[in-house]
Amino acid sequence: IHKVWLDCDPGHDDATAILLALHTSSIELLGISTVHGNTDATHTALNAARCLHAWGAPPNLRVYAGAAKPLLRAPRYDPEIHGADGLGGVVGLPSPEASEVRARIAVDQPAIEAIARAVREAEGKVVVVASGPLTNVALFVSAYPELLEKIEQIVFMGGGIGIGNRSPGAEWNILCDPEAAQIVLDAPIKTVMMPLNVTHKAIVTSALQARLRNPSGEPGPASPLRHTLATLVTFFADTYRSTFGFESGPPLHDALTIAYVAHPEFFEGTRWRVDVERAGVYTAGETIADVYGYRACDDTWGPGGKNCFVVMDLRNDEFFEYLLQA
Ligand code: BDR
Ligand code: CA
Repeated sequence: IHKVWLDCDPGHDDATAILLALHTSSIELLGISTVHGNTDATHTALNAARCLHAWGAPPNLRVYAGAAKPLLRAPRYDPEIHGADGLGGVVGLPSPEASEVRARIAVDQPAIEAIARAVREAEGKVVVVASGPLTNVALFVSAYPELLEKIEQIVFMGGGIGIGNRSPGAEWNILCDPEAAQIVLDAPIKTVMMPLNVTHKAIVTSALQARLRNPSGEPGPASPLRHTLATLVTFFADTYRSTFGFESGPPLHDALTIAYVAHPEFFEGTRWRVDVERAGVYTAGETIADVYGYRACDDTWGPGGKNCFVVMDLRNDEFFEYLLQA
């Protein structure tokens, strides 16, 4: 059983990562923290709580609201892709004001303290998964270096090798907080990056959307959960079509992080030195992978080494079968 802490900014694809984390038998979800990103930090926390309720999470599973802004830069939000509240167009979730949603928001501890407590109390090692900007994770690795020996790996969705999405060179999660991403990459611990190069291969095609809505293929209304997921994917498909010209469906970026924890055999990647451009006029937030080994690196994770396992390919059919099963 993989013990997982999920840090996220829901976000349509983050919502699917939460769903997978809850309904994968080999994963025990210890808790959720949220971060600024697709929308402001208040909404990402509420959205995570709304998803926990709608996806049938155990009542004791709570959301810890984390950083409301990047380490150094001004926050950015992305209403064009995720709507003003981060889960635009999603029908059937409880309202942010609902008591069952409010009850899921933990107020007893800041997010990074909650992560630390979960790691400290866990038997064995914990996997930290991040599907938003890396601010909380950077704060956690900086504040609790003594706990890193209990972290098995940090798996994050972000970056791109030679490709960006919210600037010519940068992927959104890294663009939002490049300094945090560099801190995480320099932590002396294995990091796994799930960049656009692979996530753009995980397209929810219209055939998959139809199966999600109605797996039996028989005519008839979708179940409430399937209806909610269908509205989620439809909204995401529409924004990806209008913004990026994706005609065949939206990429389910964040779900791949959880899939990687449960099924690394679905994925292929290479260990490289990866750094984040933090000063570039055109390229701030770009992830720079030393594919041809220009820099002298040892085999340690962290500042002097090949610090990141970069996933570049996946067995798409197996991933989607697993997702539909969950
Ligand atoms: C990432 O940015 C957000 O739009 C998604 O939730 C995902 O984490 C993709 O670049
Ligand atoms: Ca996200």
